[in-house]
Amino acid sequence: MKQGDVIEKTKNYVRKKFSGESTGHDWWHIYRVWKMARKIGKKEKADMFIVELGALLHDIADFKFYSGDDTVGPRKASEWLRSLEVDDEEIKKVSHIIDNVSFKGAKVKSKMESLEGKIVQDADRLDAIGAIGISRTFAFGGSKHRPLYEPNVKPIIHKTFEEYKKGSASTINHFYEKLLHVKDLMNTDTGKEIAQERHRFVEGYLKRFLEEWEGKK
Ligand code: ADP
Ligand code: NI
Repeated sequence: MKQGDVIEKTKNYVRKKFSGESTGHDWWHIYRVWKMARKIGKKEKADMFIVELGALLHDIADFKFYSGDDTVGPRKASEWLRSLEVDDEEIKKVSHIIDNVSFKGAKVKSKMESLEGKIVQDADRLDAIGAIGISRTFAFGGSKHRPLYEPNVKPIIHKTFEEYKKGSASTINHFYEKLLHVKDLMNTDTGKEIAQERHRFVEGYLKRFLEEWEGKK
């Protein structure tokens, strides 16, 4: 099968699977990551077939939805790509991306090794900051019935994935636990540049939120 056809079929497969998801993992998240990964990938001169497949499949089975089993994602993606007769070598590269893409805590080091994976990871992380990132946190928090903000509960900077998985008390705390760290975790120069601007936007938003909270603005 032609590479373009594999991408097209994978896009349709993922879109169908993710339609109607409302915790921030909907098809449109995948779509944005895919677009951003293409943009970064072109600048960084990566293997675009791997970048595109990695981006489209990166969230195929998230640990949050399979009661913590993070081996499901790579397995599902491999089965899918095998059914399209993609080479084993390429399947391995895509699996590596899915395996390592996820944010697991501000001080938990990522094991992503390939350029293509670093690009997908940057694109995914960029979707967690900026205006869209902010929207996603509140969508996620709402789905877990979490308060917007709980001034008496301090944020935790997680050092292990186990701690991080248990999650934060309020959505604003998640800004301190994840969003504000994202810019320092970027892999590529292109990603860093885009993250800078989105970071400033999040900082401004947070400042304003806290001022309004106290009736200062
Ligand atoms: P991704 O798919 O980008 O790797 P995650 O799976 O970590 O991101 O989370 C999906 C979205 O939900 C992200 O925008 C993330 O910031 C947000 N999110 C994750 N955990 C929380 C939380 N405890 N409170 C609020 N938002 C969260
Ligand atoms: Ni994602």
